[in-house]
Amino acid sequence: MVPPQGVIAPHRLERAVRVLRAGGLVAFPTETVYGLGADAENVGAVKRVFEVKGRPPTHPLIVHIGDRAQIDDWAAGVSGPAQHLAECFWPGPLTLVFRRRSRVPLAVTGGLETVALRVPEHPVALALLAAYGGGVAAPSANRFGAVSPTTAGHVREGLGAAVDFVLDGGPCGVGVESTIVDATAEPVILRPGGVAREDLEQALGCSVPVSARSAVRVPGQHPSHYAPRARVLLVEPDQVTAQAELLAAQGCRVGVLLPPEAANLSGSRTGQVMITVPESDADYARQLYGLLREFDRHGCEAIVASAPAPEGLGLAITDRLRRAAGPRRVSSSAGSVPATAGTSTEPWRASTGSGRASRSDLQVQVRPGRESS
Ligand code: TXA
Ligand code: MG
Repeated sequence: MVPPQGVIAPHRLERAVRVLRAGGLVAFPTETVYGLGADAENVGAVKRVFEVKGRPPTHPLIVHIGDRAQIDDWAAGVSGPAQHLAECFWPGPLTLVFRRRSRVPLAVTGGLETVALRVPEHPVALALLAAYGGGVAAPSANRFGAVSPTTAGHVREGLGAAVDFVLDGGPCGVGVESTIVDATAEPVILRPGGVAREDLEQALGCSVPVSARSAVRVPGQHPSHYAPRARVLLVEPDQVTAQAELLAAQGCRVGVLLPPEAANLSGSRTGQVMITVPESDADYARQLYGLLREFDRHGCEAIVASAPAPEGLGLAITDRLRRAAGPRRVSSSAGSVPATAGTSTEPWRASTGSGRASRSDLQVQVRPGRESS
């Protein structure tokens, strides 16, 4: 496959390839989120990815390849259904897990005998992979547990000088990470993502379950992941405004993701940053991480949201919101805001004891569907 020409200056591409060959780290755009790439066969480079991300070495990385014809170079025992999925969805936001070939270092797979492979769809990623020729091991280019980057600016904010080179390909079009399917046996979804479950099922002509608990270690399955600084509270759609009012009344600076059906309720409210989420799940997915970051920028201590219907891309959005709302291992600036509305009746102010100044000056209204990043 020949990537579109002119999407990136040739000298930038050459520099990125040189950095990869020298064992450096290159952040690059994919259609889902930005990746933090290293030569998949250079153990030292791969180890640096883990260090820079602050990610435990047992959590495996995805190997990105430029063409599905390379699948057998990295994976063994590719089944008919798996091959079919690759044909239907590559390049695209689907990651397939196979038995690894020996060229895949255990440093990449976190010690597993399987390897996750993906051909991304972004023209800059494809140009990079074509010019490089090898496999690029790349997690999302954010610190472990934080919100994934959907612009080059997010990468620089999060990782700064720890990345040797950043290829800027503009904002990511899908906005949530790839769907991960374990293809070592009957296909099972390990992580919902940019390819909808329904589309996988249509391609295979059978149901594809979503694994409740994977036997493999998947960081995205950590209870708290994809998390902004603000605590996220997930409530029923008709409870969003009431929950936000309650927290604001307690002096908490609240970000509100208003469901589209509640858009008529929008309006400036004291201490609340209100954003009506886009009607379409594709737009919502594209903007989700940017919106979470926007709330952090506004200094919100809590974000109140509801999950969309878990269909199509709504399944991935729901998954990410749930994980953002999951219990944290370390306390954030939002301290002890209850992780799930209704699980605590502790008043916000009493629970923080922060003596925080009044938030009454904060009255922000962001227009529906606004691009946040
Ligand atoms: O869209 C994406 O998938 C982005 C872009 C950059 O490609 N990448 C990404 O990487 O989200 P990361 O590392 O943030 O998430 C990759 C997921 C992890 O949850 C990891 O555990 C899982 O893929 N994974 C990698 N190798 C695996 C394996 N052998 N078996 C099961 N899961 C695996
Ligand atoms: Mg990630």
